[in-house]
Amino acid sequence: MKNKIELIRAIRKVGLYNLLKVKKIKKIAGNIIGGFFLTRVISTLLNIDFFAGFSGNSSINTHLFCKENNLDEKVLCALCDYLSSLGILKKNKSEYYLTAKGKFILEMGSGLFNIVYSFEDIFHNLEPILKKERTAERDINKFLYFEAKGTGEAAKLLVFPIIIDIIEKKKFKRIFDIGCGSAAFLIELCKNVSGTIGYGVDLSRKAVLHGREELIKYNLENRIKLFEGNIIHDLDSFAEKISDAEIITASFVLHELFFENKEQIINFLVKFRRRFENKCLLVCENIEQSLDELRKDPGLYSEVQLAHRLVGEQQMTRKDWHTIFIKSGFKKIKERYLSFARISIFILH
Ligand SMILES: C[S@@+](CC[C@H](N)C(=O)[O-])C[C@H]1O[C@@H](n2cnc3c(N)ncnc32)[C@H](O)[C@@H]1O
Repeated sequence: MKNKIELIRAIRKVGLYNLLKVKKIKKIAGNIIGGFFLTRVISTLLNIDFFAGFSGNSSINTHLFCKENNLDEKVLCALCDYLSSLGILKKNKSEYYLTAKGKFILEMGSGLFNIVYSFEDIFHNLEPILKKERTAERDINKFLYFEAKGTGEAAKLLVFPIIIDIIEKKKFKRIFDIGCGSAAFLIELCKNVSGTIGYGVDLSRKAVLHGREELIKYNLENRIKLFEGNIIHDLDSFAEKISDAEIITASFVLHELFFENKEQIINFLVKFRRRFENKCLLVCENIEQSLDELRKDPGLYSEVQLAHRLVGEQQMTRKDWHTIFIKSGFKKIKERYLSFARISIFILH
C-alpha cells in the first residue's frame, strides 16, 4: 500500500508521461551499461581462472578461493553477488554455484570475451586516441595472445568443423597453419581426422608456449609441431622447413598481417605462391558489412567491425578479397560464404 501511495505521489509531481520515460530509459540504459559492467566482470574472472573451479556441479567458496589465490575477498564477493543478481551464479551462504545460464555463457561465449579483452586497452583509451594524445596501438604481447585464444575458442564452434570437413574431403594429410595461435585448429583437426600431421607458426611466443602445453594435454606432440616466427620475414625458411605441406591454412590472419594495405597483402601472396609452389591455400576471414547490412542485424558484427577499424585492421568485402586473390595470381578461387556468420572461406589454387 505504501509503495502505491509513493507511486501516486510521484505521478502527481512529475507526471505520468515523464515517469514512463524514466522507466523506458532505465530499460534501454540498463542494457547498455549492464553490457559494459558484465563484460568487464566476466573477463576479469576468466583471467583469474575463477570459472575453471566449477568443474561438474561443484561450488566455489570465495573465502578459500581468495586465500589460495591471494585475492581481495570483498571484491570477489561483490563480483559474485553481481553475477548472482543476473542469474549467472547462484549463492548459498558463502558458496557460489554456476547456473545453467552461466554454464551456457561460458561454454559458448568465453572465446568472444577473450577477443573483447584483447581490445580492452583501445576502448579504455578511446578518448586520448580520439584527441590524438595516443595512438591506437595494442599491447602486442597481450593482444596477440588473447585474440588468438578467443578466436580459437569461438572458431571451434562453427568454422573449424567446416574447414576440417573440406580438408578431410580433399584427403590432405599434412597441413601448415599460419598464424596458428595456440594451435586450436590443428588440435581439432588431428583429434578428428586420423593420420593428419600439423605444423603451425605464430608471432606470439605466449600463444605458442600455451599451444605446446595443449599438445601435451591432448597427447599430440608427435603429430603437431609449433614454431614461433613471423611468416612475413621468415617465409623462405618456413617454405623450406615445411616443404611437405599439402595445404596451407590461414584463419583470421591475413587481415592482420598488413592491416588494410592491399598492395602489401598482394606482394606477400605472390611471394607465398612462388615459395610454396602453388600449393592449395585456404583463407578464412570475417567479411566487412555495409552500414545497411549492419543495421539489419548489428548483433556483434558492428562491434567486431568497430574494434578492427579502430586498430587499423579494417575488414574487407568479399569483392575486395576476390580482387586481391586474382591480382596475386590465383587461378582457381572457390568461396564458401557463411552469410549467417558473415565469414568467408576461400579455397585457392
Ligand atoms: C585472430 S588470431 C587467429 C588465430 C588462429 N588462426 C585461429 O583462427 O584461432 C591471429 C593470429 O595471427 C598471428 N599473427 C599475426 N601476425 C603474424 C605474423 N606476421 N606471423 C605469424 N603469425 C602472425 C597472431 O599472433 C594471432 O595468433
